[in-house]
This record gives sequence, C-alpha cells and structure tokens, in this order.
Amino acid sequence: LRMILIGPPGSGKGTQAPNLVSKYHSCHLATGDMLRGQIKAGTELGKKAKAIMDQGGLVSDDIMVGMIAHELDNNPECENGFILDGFPRTIAQAEALDKMLAERKMPLKNVVELQVPDERLVSRITGRLIHPASGRSYHKEFNPPKEDMKDDITGEPLVQRSDDNVEALKKRLIAYHEQTEPVVAYYKNKGVWTGIDATKTPAQVWEDISAALV
Ligand code: AP5
Ligand code: ZN
Repeated sequence: LRMILIGPPGSGKGTQAPNLVSKYHSCHLATGDMLRGQIKAGTELGKKAKAIMDQGGLVSDDIMVGMIAHELDNNPECENGFILDGFPRTIAQAEALDKMLAERKMPLKNVVELQVPDERLVSRITGRLIHPASGRSYHKEFNPPKEDMKDDITGEPLVQRSDDNVEALKKRLIAYHEQTEPVVAYYKNKGVWTGIDATKTPAQVWEDISAALV
C-alpha cells in the first residue's frame, strides 16, 4: 500500500490509519505525531514547532519534507509501503513528495480524502482525547475509552492536545482550505483520488476506505 490519507482536522485520519496498518503492515507516517514527539523530547525543532502548532499554523515545508524523506529511507516498516497522514499539506510538499517517490521508485497508488463539513469538526476536536505515546485518539462522546481517561491498550493517561481548542481550530481550518485543498485538486488531476463521506460512523468509514482500495 502506498497512499495518502487527506482531510481537515478531525476528519478521522488518525482514527482510520491503524485499520490500514493492521491490514497492510505499511508504515504510518503522521507528521503531527512526529512533531509532537519532537516537542515531548524537548528538541530545538520541537520548541519552534510547538509555537506554530498551538497557533494553528503550518511548520515549514523544508522541515516536513526532510522528516518524510528520513522515514522512507530509515523506517523498515516503510518497505511494505506507507500511509501518509497529515502530509503533504501544501503544493510545495506534494511536488517534493512526487520527486522523492520517483527517485525511490515507489509510485503513489491512492489518495483517500476524508470529507467532513467544517461545522461537524468542532465537536470532534473539542471532545478528542489522545494517548501521547502512540497517537491513538478517542472521543469523550463518540469513541470513549473503556476506562475513564485511560488508553485501552496501555492503561496510560489520556490528554487533550494543546491545539484542540476552538480558536486554534479556526486557524487550522483556514490553513486547510487555503493550503491543503489545492493539494486535493492536484491529486484529482493525477487520477489517484477517491473521496469518502467521513461523517458516517468510524466502522462505516473504514468499510468505504477498504472498498476504495481494492
Ligand atoms: P495533525 O496532527 O496532522 O493535525 P490535523 O491535520 O489538524 O488533524 P487531526 O489530527 O486533528 O485530525 P484527524 O483527522 O487525525 O482526526 P482523528 O482521527 O484524531 O497536525 C497538527 C499540526 O502539526 C498542524 O496544525 C501543523 O501545525 C503541524 N503539521 C503537521 N503536519 C504538517 C505538515 N505536513 N506541514 C506543516 N505543518 C504540519 O479524529 C478526531 C476526533 O473525532 C477523535 O476524537 C475521534 O475519536 C473522532 N472521530 C473520528 N472519526 C469519527 C467518526 N467517523 N465519527 C465520529 N467521531 C469520529
Ligand atoms: Zn491526526
């Protein structure tokens, strides 16, 4: 599997990616999770990224392209293909990815767009809880953990993301419409795109993604 999962904040990329990993054993490269890892590790990059992420802005293309190239070359799981989540987010990133994949002879097979109208995203984002170490996400109402505020698998505490508030979400949505929607159009022109109605339940969305990938 060599695919991109694309969609606005809260559309379900991180919720659906684990299903794809279990089925295809490809690497899951979630750039937001990678940046949160840098923040947690207290690196210089993490410090710079945190300020941008909390404001709902985008980290520079060069940094993001470098992170993906590094993973494709060094993460052994990527030998079975990749699931990109949160990348590419700008046309410059999409063009850099094309070049990177051509050089590595790893042509892209699918781009799946998770479609959800903006007004449905507010409650998804404000009710989300995450397990920081794995990036697994839950929802207070729509997908509650088995035990209150604890990860189902490790039992570790769940937290709210610092950019999951209404104010930052507004800016993330503006960034999505201005910078990332053109990326969707870019892939529509290349004939690899499928749009999925991601307002359905997570199980129904997964069924539709599976059907799109055969
Ligand atoms: P990132 O972590 O990628 O955030 P995002 O794109 O805003 O997407 P989210 O993680 O918020 O949404 P998701 O689609 O994964 O939703 P989820 O499945 O969790 O990026 C964060 C920041 O990092 C960016 O703002 C930027 O600053 C920076 N960054 C990252 N990549 C970058 C790049 N390439 N270039 C530049 N900067 C970059 O679901 C959300 C909630 O809804 C959960 O609670 C879930 O349980 C619930 N839910 C999921 N599906 C359903 C459903 N079908 N029905 C009901 N509820 C559902
Ligand atoms: Zn996510």
